[in-house]
Amino acid sequence: MKAAIIGYGKMGREIERILRERGHEVALTIDADNASDLDAEHLEGIDVAIEFTTPATAYANIRTCLEAGTAVVSGTTGWTDRLAELQALCRERGGALFYASNFSLGVNLLFRLNRRLAELVGSVGGYQVRIDEVHHTQKKDAPSGTAITLAEGVIAGMPDKREWVNYAPGIDCSAHRIDDPAAAASNQVVIGSVREGAVPGIHTVRYESEDDCLELRHETKNRRSLALGAVVAAEFLAGKRGIYTMDDLLK
Ligand SMILES: NC(=O)c1ccc[n+]([C@@H]2O[C@H](COP(=O)([O-])OP(=O)(O)OC[C@H]3O[C@@H](n4cnc5c(N)ncnc54)[C@H](O)[C@@H]3O)[C@@H](O)[C@H]2O)c1
Repeated sequence: MKAAIIGYGKMGREIERILRERGHEVALTIDADNASDLDAEHLEGIDVAIEFTTPATAYANIRTCLEAGTAVVSGTTGWTDRLAELQALCRERGGALFYASNFSLGVNLLFRLNRRLAELVGSVGGYQVRIDEVHHTQKKDAPSGTAITLAEGVIAGMPDKREWVNYAPGIDCSAHRIDDPAAAASNQVVIGSVREGAVPGIHTVRYESEDDCLELRHETKNRRSLALGAVVAAEFLAGKRGIYTMDDLLK
């Protein structure tokens, strides 16, 4: 596979290592200082571009790839209110797009468990839900894309939950922010965000009634599992057309 890496940061470097280990060619590397090189000419001959950049740059990067007819895997978080637009463009152009808020196998098992548990808890009733996430201090978005996917699973499974809100004391980039989690409405799922040290990612979903608590917890030990998932997704996407997620890969 001839790959392009878009975003040569923590994830991009790990992805490069894994691509080479698995016998792939890294034919193009784009970062902030050569961002203007991301065009149809440089993408010529690339089988898949793997994009891990920033919430402010992901949309334009993916769009450029789709317009150039290059298949793209993206894991950048914090911008996905515009993902549907790119999925529509991908369909229109007959392109290929794979997006996941988290490429770890364990987290995707957690997503499935959480959706099922939310349905079961929703049918019983009487439970409040809270999601908590902890990440390193360089993270540029809050809540994490993974926590949003977990909240969407809760909302899909529990009829009395309608939206998520973010309690993120001291974090500037918080979206749908609330300053007092106790003031959240009963149809809102509170996501608590904490930024500390170099933590790659911890997610907890807690279902609590007056009588008991049920908790799902996942801790990412390193970035390698995330980067490997993105490379396996790129191998899966190469030569295909259409829109894919981790559910397609796990099938
Ligand atoms: N989906 C997942 O499994 C997963 C896992 C880890 C991180 N992430 C997300 O991936 C993104 C990147 O994470 P990271 O830890 O590598 O961050 P990072 O800050 O280490 O790297 C981001 C890189 O993007 C570069 N960049 C900025 N603008 C650019 C542009 N226009 N074109 C190309 N490159 C540009 C920066 O210079 C930097 O090197 C974040 O949104 C993070 O939340 C997702």
